[in-house]
Amino acid sequence: MSCSSALSRNIMRAIRVAQFGGPEVMKVESSVPVPTPAKSQVLINVKAAGINPVDTYIRAGTYALKPELPYTPGHDIAGVVEEVGSDVKSIKKGDRVFTIRTASGGYAEYCTAEADTTRHLRNRLSFEEGAGVGVPYYTAYRAVQIIGKARPGETMLVHGASGSVGLACIQYGCHLGLRVLGTAGSQTGVDLVKENGADAVFNHREENYVQEIMDSTDGNGPDIIIEMLANVNLEKDMTMVAKRGRIMVVGNRGSIEVTPRHLMAKESTVAGVMLFGSTQEEMKEMSGAIDAGLGPGGWVKPHIGREYSLDNAPQAHGDIINNTGATGRLIIKPS
Ligand SMILES: NC(=O)c1ccc[n+]([C@@H]2O[C@H](COP(=O)([O-])OP(=O)(O)OC[C@H]3O[C@@H](n4cnc5c(N)ncnc54)[C@H](OP(=O)(O)O)[C@@H]3O)[C@@H](O)[C@H]2O)c1
Repeated sequence: MSCSSALSRNIMRAIRVAQFGGPEVMKVESSVPVPTPAKSQVLINVKAAGINPVDTYIRAGTYALKPELPYTPGHDIAGVVEEVGSDVKSIKKGDRVFTIRTASGGYAEYCTAEADTTRHLRNRLSFEEGAGVGVPYYTAYRAVQIIGKARPGETMLVHGASGSVGLACIQYGCHLGLRVLGTAGSQTGVDLVKENGADAVFNHREENYVQEIMDSTDGNGPDIIIEMLANVNLEKDMTMVAKRGRIMVVGNRGSIEVTPRHLMAKESTVAGVMLFGSTQEEMKEMSGAIDAGLGPGGWVKPHIGREYSLDNAPQAHGDIINNTGATGRLIIKPS
């Protein structure tokens, strides 16, 4: 047997998707077999699962990578370890953990994950907060530090700062000693981004906000822009960014026509960011930085916007794509 202990129950409640389509293709099933961890994996009792926009693209069948059907959605969760595979040394039964990526899918009472994408969850964070760490903070660190190479003293604009990745970027930027600007689409979002440390916040639904951002940088523009909706904003970013500035495309939902001359005149660059394109070395760096930020008084402080039950997963998918006025992370509580 490859595991350190056997679970007393062998079935669980979980979301199953049998065909790609709208949110309604997510069905709760009550007798899904509890997955068995491989030698390098752990089995986790899921206390909270994060909802990422990419979960909706995968469910719709429009994402580049398509899982084999049927499948259970969900990348990052927080919970308690139930079993460990025979090769796993760093994690033991009973540990509080969060994952960056699950193996069997997180919208379930139990899931498996590779031990090397499972990290200890400090006691200062609840399980709900823990489900807000994996994808958002790793993506934020990758965008701001690894690809963006931000340096203390620079000015960074987070274009779309009120959601889970945006708030993580704001918190990391403040920790790093950047001058941090953010945008949100509602007054509640603007207030939340300010509370998370931004030096100035603008409403991306107001007509003059681009000019206000330019005014707040004395006409120079931000040195680095973290972009959450490039198909709407890339041309604006190219006009705003400082000379030799960098635009990091984190989120995009379509096409846009842009004027490349803006880049030539400023010798600025546009770069893509893809969390799951990280190398092992980069994952090690991201884990080290985020583990340090999870420590006492650390910079990692996930903000939970809304909680859903497993039965309400279709509503959660509708909300994360269609709602305006984000206020942090959306999560599912499986039980
Ligand atoms: N590249 C990667 O590896 C990677 C990893 C994770 C996430 N992502 C992508 O990053 C994006 C953000 O993810 P998330 O989890 O933070 O989603 P989220 O929590 O739903 O946040 C979405 C953010 O986009 C903002 N937004 C909406 N309309 C906007 C506009 N016109 N201009 C600027 N911002 C606008 C929202 O602001 P309001 O609601 O306040 O308007 C909110 O701040 C998504 O597209 C996601 O797919 C990419």
